[in-house]
Amino acid sequence: MKEETVMNRKLLEFHEYVKDLSTADVVMQMDDFIQHGDITTLEHVIAVSYTAFLLANKWNADVKSTVRGAMLHDLYLYDWHIKDPERPPLTHGFTHPMAAAKNAAKYFEPTEKELKIVRSHMWPLTLFHIPTSKEALIVTLSDKYCATNETLGIYDDSAFREKIKEYLVFIKQQRAAQNLVNR
Ligand SMILES: [Fe+2]
Ligand SMILES: [Fe+2]
Repeated sequence: MKEETVMNRKLLEFHEYVKDLSTADVVMQMDDFIQHGDITTLEHVIAVSYTAFLLANKWNADVKSTVRGAMLHDLYLYDWHIKDPERPPLTHGFTHPMAAAKNAAKYFEPTEKELKIVRSHMWPLTLFHIPTSKEALIVTLSDKYCATNETLGIYDDSAFREKIKEYLVFIKQQRAAQNLVNR
């Protein structure tokens, strides 16, 4: 019971950094695309962002840049499992950070530091986009950690996933309160 209260407080603290992003229509679109297994891209970016939030606090990093960069890191807005002649097979890993950065700049006003976090999150795959800040390093590590857990099914019935689902319900309630249409 005590732990539940602590986690809720942390989720609310996390929300304060990203509320304009996590309740936006374009971010909500990520709920339509599958990332790994049965996990949507929206659930994945929230898991990465919340993991990065915990690490940024622990390692005295710039929490705001870390969590906002993480929330935008996969804003490429397509299902990478579906074949598309404009996206040759096996290129998604290399190209999607740039697509996400382009969309982030189109729909929001990210800082250069946040954009660098987005562009470098797939390093070392993206050879020339190296994580050059502690915050970028936290996001690339959080992404790999979450992606591995999601792919291997370790994440499936975890207490951590319950927290992320709790946050998904919360942002949809926030959108309903603002009369935004939920998907
Ligand atoms: Fe990614
Ligand atoms: Fe990712």
